[in-house]
Amino acid sequence: MNNKSFFKKIHYLESVDSTNSYLKNSDFEDKTLIYTYNQLKGRGRGENTWINFSGMNLALSFLLKPEKLNFDSVWYIAVCSLALIDLVEEYDIAGSWIKWPNDIFINDCKLAGVLAESVWAADKIDKIVIGIGININSGVNEFNLLDNNATSIAHQAGGPIEIDMFTRGYQDRLSYWLDILINEEDVSVIKQEWLAKSKIVDRNVQWILADKCEYGKIVGIDDGGLLLFNNGRKVVKISAGDIKLV
Ligand code: BTN
Repeated sequence: MNNKSFFKKIHYLESVDSTNSYLKNSDFEDKTLIYTYNQLKGRGRGENTWINFSGMNLALSFLLKPEKLNFDSVWYIAVCSLALIDLVEEYDIAGSWIKWPNDIFINDCKLAGVLAESVWAADKIDKIVIGIGININSGVNEFNLLDNNATSIAHQAGGPIEIDMFTRGYQDRLSYWLDILINEEDVSVIKQEWLAKSKIVDRNVQWILADKCEYGKIVGIDDGGLLLFNNGRKVVKISAGDIKLV
């Protein structure tokens, strides 16, 4: 692994409302990363909240100010996921996979979620902010307070995790995958890895969007990050909703 970090600045914060909001509303330079173990008002996709449990879990965000945005934000979400799966495997935890579009699961339980947001200035994107929340040391007492099936690294590993060491490991792997993405002409390397770590490709699934539900098969993902869904009649591109294995 390359020792030179992709990130130009790394800041630790004792506490913050939301690491994504903080980067969106401040004027940090390109490739700044911030993290905290005490995020007070974490945000998830849509109107969802992300609960951190003080001192136990990691909330980490970074910002990119590319001259031109070469890749859809789906691929920045993908590198966050691939970095985490690498690290989880190094902790000898089996069963990790990427649940499209932005979750990392271990078997049937959610370990982490990613949120990518764009900040516009006039009519162009000024920066994108990508944040990940990873359950590291939370346990059953905390999972019971959530409305999803959650898990953590500690729960899977069977004992408490040294959180700073885990965070450093995550930053290293994130840096490694971001270098690959940024230095590639296209997304083919990341796409191939994403497909390998996502359970939904070539499997029978249910696509749920609002009150609509269709059965079919995911047959791939395009370069813009849209899933290719074969509903038995034709292949349609999907960007929203939820996919469930059947
Ligand atoms: C989701 O599961 O819907 C996405 C959750 C994303 C949570 C992370 S924690 C770091 C960053 N800051 C936030 O407020 N949200 C993201």
